[in-house]
Amino acid sequence: MNVRILNSREDLNATAATVIASLLLSKPQAMLGLATGSTPIGIYRHLADMYRRGQVSFARAYSVNLDEYVGLSPEHPQSYRSFMNEHLFQHIDIPISHTRVPDGNALDLTAECVAHEQAILDHGPVDLQLLGIGHNGHIGFNEPGHSLTGATHVVDLKERTRSANARFFGDIDAVPRQAVTMGVGTILKAKQIILVAFGAEKADILKQALTGPVTTECPASLLQCHPNVLILLDQEAGGWLK
Ligand code: GLP
Repeated sequence: MNVRILNSREDLNATAATVIASLLLSKPQAMLGLATGSTPIGIYRHLADMYRRGQVSFARAYSVNLDEYVGLSPEHPQSYRSFMNEHLFQHIDIPISHTRVPDGNALDLTAECVAHEQAILDHGPVDLQLLGIGHNGHIGFNEPGHSLTGATHVVDLKERTRSANARFFGDIDAVPRQAVTMGVGTILKAKQIILVAFGAEKADILKQALTGPVTTECPASLLQCHPNVLILLDQEAGGWLK
């Protein structure tokens, strides 16, 4: 794994955005695997700025998102579809028909999981997968446990994940109990992975994920098995590596 510790969050956001923009310059029809959470917001802001300055175009690109809450309609303000529209898609030139976020409100969630995998097969493989990391080591919504699922599937969210994400909902009871997520097998099929993390509260789990054993109890540790992973950390998250 290639680990870089940046001086500031701004540097980190700019570095990640530059890697994504460079890919699109060399491969305009690239498929991007996108993430939600607070971590990628600054990266998306940078990409939107680069688009406005004419430095990058998404007109031929495809995107596929990692995950979505079960039971939220795409229009729900806390759905990951709304998040992506608000923080990225409405600011750039990607055709919305080229973007895919799982539909957590689908009547047949099993069919929705199959459709998500199929969309990746149709326009993929994912050229670059952007990841954050949960406080318990989850990637996407692949929660720690005795086993992990390879393909896109429905997952029960851990209480720790629900409470971490309650800040977006205002009230823990409003946080969905399940999500649709790409599996770790799907994530690891991406040609390149960029994991981004900042803040001291991510330092311990990053230490486990990057230097501990590869284990289903820390899903991000499986990234150690991928041949092309870039880890971008700020000083607070990655200072322990020095
Ligand atoms: C959610 C998302 C993950 C994300 C994680 C961390 O659970 N499903 O993809 O990595 O939150 O979020 P944050 O960046 O807000 O710390």
